[in-house]
Amino acid sequence: MGIRSLRKKKAREPQNNPLSPNSSMVSSASSPSLTPRRKASRLYANFYVILSVSLFVSVIVLLNISSYKLRAFERVISYHMIKVVNEFPHDPQAFTQGLLYAGNDTLFESTGLYGKSSVRKVALRTGKVEKLKKMDGSLFGEGLTLIGERLFQVTWLQKLGFIYDQKNLSKVGTFNHEMKDGWGLATDGKVLFGSDGSSSLYELDPRTFKAVSKQVVYYKGHQVHNLNELEYINGEIWANVYMTDCIARISPNNGGFLGWILLSNLRKGLVEAGHRDIDVLNGIAWDDEQKRIFVTGKMWPKLYEVKVFPINKPIEEGVIEQLCLRRPLTFT
Ligand SMILES: *[C@@H]1O[C@H](CO)[C@@H](O)[C@H](O)[C@H]1NC(C)=O
Ligand SMILES: *[C@@H]1O[C@H](CO)[C@@H](O)[C@H](O)[C@H]1NC(C)=O
Repeated sequence: MGIRSLRKKKAREPQNNPLSPNSSMVSSASSPSLTPRRKASRLYANFYVILSVSLFVSVIVLLNISSYKLRAFERVISYHMIKVVNEFPHDPQAFTQGLLYAGNDTLFESTGLYGKSSVRKVALRTGKVEKLKKMDGSLFGEGLTLIGERLFQVTWLQKLGFIYDQKNLSKVGTFNHEMKDGWGLATDGKVLFGSDGSSSLYELDPRTFKAVSKQVVYYKGHQVHNLNELEYINGEIWANVYMTDCIARISPNNGGFLGWILLSNLRKGLVEAGHRDIDVLNGIAWDDEQKRIFVTGKMWPKLYEVKVFPINKPIEEGVIEQLCLRRPLTFT
């Protein structure tokens, strides 16, 4: 609705309102003794009341519109750190590419590398692999997500994806998606969100695997390249950025940048404990029931439950760019 039509509507409204000054309840008919002069001045008074009300309404409408626009343009970027609240064992041979929490202290995990790729059901508390589906040696497992009873998995350097039954990990279908490559997958329960190692966040139709939308993700004018493992958390997409200890928080609606989570203390702790062969941070899982966040990495001996908290001190110019942004990669 335009401002003009709103104003007109508001200006007309008082005529039908029994509490308004010019309604029939206080009309001249109910006060027959008024002189013409007093009638005229009352008319003027009514006119001014209507005028001020409509001006007031217009100002409120304009203020709302401009603050809405400001909010849309000046998206506030937040910066968080993490605190470990629990740690669990994780298979140090797992080249983690996809991770999700499926309730009942159970995780599903997809692993990569040729000849070592798999889909697994893992007990959270023990890290024990309860079921494992080995993939063909020609395939490199990547992102994984669960819709209903079906696990969806993408593969590296291919557009080929697989669908598995979550109960027994038996393959129930294959698909071809419209991304350039298969890196990450997540879901809000209705659509698939995907990444292909570029700076694009895709929305895919889970029936046709066509790209419904493709949004380039920017942080302060820089493309955020190498978007990797994805998780849908509280209406946001959280993405590992490959070769960094940073997670990007992205709006699934428009690809807008919401914030960074810095997790370099995890790697630091592992290296200090003597784990020198660990690969990159990768893998985010979300327990929506108990609001638990889990993260791990490729060949990491541990999986962490973490809590995020805002960084209160100002971050120096250029630090985030150095920590969290990497050049685009090509694998041809
Ligand atoms: C939850 O997991 C435990 C241990 O794996 C299993 O015994 C139990 O049946 C599971 N419960 C449900 C509801 O799936
Ligand atoms: C796996 O489970 C589904 C249903 O849960 C069933 O239809 C299918 O036959 C099972 N596959 C195998 C190989 O056991």
